[in-house]
Amino acid sequence: MTKTRILSSSDANITLAVERLKEGYPVAIPTETVYGLAANCMNPLASSRIFQVKNRPTDNPLICHVSSYEMLDMLVAKDENGKLRITNEALTVMKHFWPGPLTVLLPKNDQVSDIVSAGLPTVAVRFPSHPIVQKIIELAGFPLAAPSANLSGRPSPTTAQHVLDDLDGRIAYIVDGGPSSFGLESTVLDATSNPPIILRPGAITASMLKPYMPSIQVYGMDKRDLSMEERPSTPGMKYKHYAPTAPVKLVKAYIHMEENVARFLSEHKNDKFVRLCIGERPDYANCANLYLTKTSNLAEIARNLFNLLREADLLSPSVILAEEVSEEEEGLAIMNRLGKAATSVLS
Ligand code: TXA
Ligand code: MG
Repeated sequence: MTKTRILSSSDANITLAVERLKEGYPVAIPTETVYGLAANCMNPLASSRIFQVKNRPTDNPLICHVSSYEMLDMLVAKDENGKLRITNEALTVMKHFWPGPLTVLLPKNDQVSDIVSAGLPTVAVRFPSHPIVQKIIELAGFPLAAPSANLSGRPSPTTAQHVLDDLDGRIAYIVDGGPSSFGLESTVLDATSNPPIILRPGAITASMLKPYMPSIQVYGMDKRDLSMEERPSTPGMKYKHYAPTAPVKLVKAYIHMEENVARFLSEHKNDKFVRLCIGERPDYANCANLYLTKTSNLAEIARNLFNLLREADLLSPSVILAEEVSEEEEGLAIMNRLGKAATSVLS
C-alpha cells in the first residue's frame, strides 16, 4: 500500500508531483470544478492506472487537460492540409470560455490511445483555469488525462481531504489547491456533432453557448427531436453516480413541500434523517439540516452539493432528503447530479 500525502502547492512540491507524473503514476490535482486524478494521457500505461485507482469501468473515457492551444496538436486529428479538425464555431467557443469549466469533444488523432478515449473516435479536451493545474501541465509538458478523483460512483471531491477519504493508500500525492470554486464538473460539449450538443450540463450553460453556437442542443432536453433519442450520451452518464452511502430522496419543491416533509418525518419518528436545504427551514427532532444555501443562490448550491452529500453521510442517516431546484441555467447541472444520486422522490 502506498502512503498518501497531501502536498501544499509550494514549488518544491509541484516539482515532486510532476516527477511522479513523468514516471507514469497518477497524482490528484486541484481544478476549478472538482479535484482530478491526473496521469500522462500520451502514456497508455499511466492512463490505465487511473482506471485501477478509481475502480472505473474501462468503457468510460477520460478528459485530457491542456495548458495551451499548442497542446491540441498532441490530441486532435488534422485534415489533409495539416490543419486541426476543429470547426470555426467550436474554436470561437473555446476561445471564449477557455481556460474554464468547458470540455469539448474533438476528433482524436492516433497518438491518443483507446484506453483514454475508450475506443471512441473523439477526444474530450479541457483547458482548466486553476493556476496550479496549469503550472503542473506546463512543467510536465504533456496533457493530463483526469477524471474526478473519487472512487467510481462516489460524489466528486471538492477538497484535498475528500480525495484522501476515497483514495488513501492508492496514490502517492494529492496537491492541495483549496476548495474547488465551482464544485460541479465541467460542461461536456460534443462539437463534432451537427447540431453541437451538451452531453453533460455544467457551469457553462446552453444559454451562454448559444450566441456562438445558435443550433446548440442539450442531450435529453428536446423531446421532439427523435434523432436525439438514438444518440449515445456521454458514456459516463449511464453509471450510478454521485451517490453517498445513505440513500438520497429527492424532495419536490411544491408549495406544500414543508407539509410533505413534516408528515414524512413524523411517520418515521424512530429514524434519523439529514436534509439538504435550499432556504431557511424549520428544525425537526429527527432531522439535521445542512444548508446548500440559505437564500437560493445557484452558484452556492453547486459549490456545496458534493461536499454536503459527503458530510450528510458522516452523520449516518437512514435517508438523506435533498431539495430540488428548477432546471434553469446552473440548476440543470445541479439537478442532473442530484437526479443521479437520488433513488426515490418525496412529492
Ligand atoms: O470538471 C471536470 O470535467 C473534471 C475535472 C477533473 O476536470 N473531470 C471530470 O471527469 O469530471 P470525469 O471522468 O469524471 O467525467 C468525464 C465525462 C464522463 O461522463 C465521460 O463519459 C465523458 O466526460 N467523456 C470523456 N470523453 C468522452 C468522449 N470521447 N465522448 C463522450 N463522452 C466523453
Ligand atoms: Mg466523475
